[in-house]
Amino acid sequence: MFERKGYELKPNPKTGRYRLISGNWKMNLNHLEAIQLVQKLYFALRDVDYAYTEISVHPPATDLRPIQLLIESDKMRFSLGAQNCYYETNGAYTGEVSAGMLAKLNVKYVIVGHSERRRIFGESDEMVAKKIQAVFSEAMTPILCVGETHDEREKGLTDEVLSRQVRIALQDLTGELASKTVIAYEPIWAIGTGNVATAEDASSGAQLIRQEITEMFGSSVASGVRVQYGGSVTPVTAPELLDAEGVDGFLVGGASLDAETFARIIRA
Ligand code: 13P
Repeated sequence: MFERKGYELKPNPKTGRYRLISGNWKMNLNHLEAIQLVQKLYFALRDVDYAYTEISVHPPATDLRPIQLLIESDKMRFSLGAQNCYYETNGAYTGEVSAGMLAKLNVKYVIVGHSERRRIFGESDEMVAKKIQAVFSEAMTPILCVGETHDEREKGLTDEVLSRQVRIALQDLTGELASKTVIAYEPIWAIGTGNVATAEDASSGAQLIRQEITEMFGSSVASGVRVQYGGSVTPVTAPELLDAEGVDGFLVGGASLDAETFARIIRA
């Protein structure tokens, strides 16, 4: 939609999938600070940085409209993302925002089932599944977050947790929609802790996710699904993680709040 001439996004030649690096700002930055950050990021990046990587920014809901206007008026090559939505289309749901409202702002990606929403706001796998349906019904793309806690990992339950989260979230989708879903593997022990997963951890998470999708929809759907890694990604750890087999990009929290740091991650 906002293509700059001569710079069409290219898929990763090794996988055929399009890389996606997303900045999840969480509950940070008012709309004035948000505008500054997006402008700084835009100036920090060169055309070549966009060649193989789609970049999405996920500001808080109050910042979406000003950031949408900024991106569109300056033809910036950023995709607009949201952090959450509710699954009903409208009604008496005080404080919630519907998928349709986000779609009207040209939001392209919606994060669904982030571990902070599951843990702090009690979102169940079933609610996550309904939100994914709602996002697709408005022609947007969900970024489904899955990941195990430190405890679950210690008990050897990683496999079981990831399978359950993926299975319930995608169970009502057609194969076509499932293949369009972006899945962020975010081990909870790595989020905001500085305990970044190794490339092997990230690869093995991506593999478990694709294995579950293969069982549900077959291998061609699984090989189309993009899997991001998230959890304490920094410019130092990014190159190795981005090289990890099966990883198609990042969902970055803290490090996406600084334009230069996020730009260095994108350049990885
Ligand atoms: P951090 O990058 O701050 O660890 O956060 C990761 C995350 O939760 C992104 O959604």
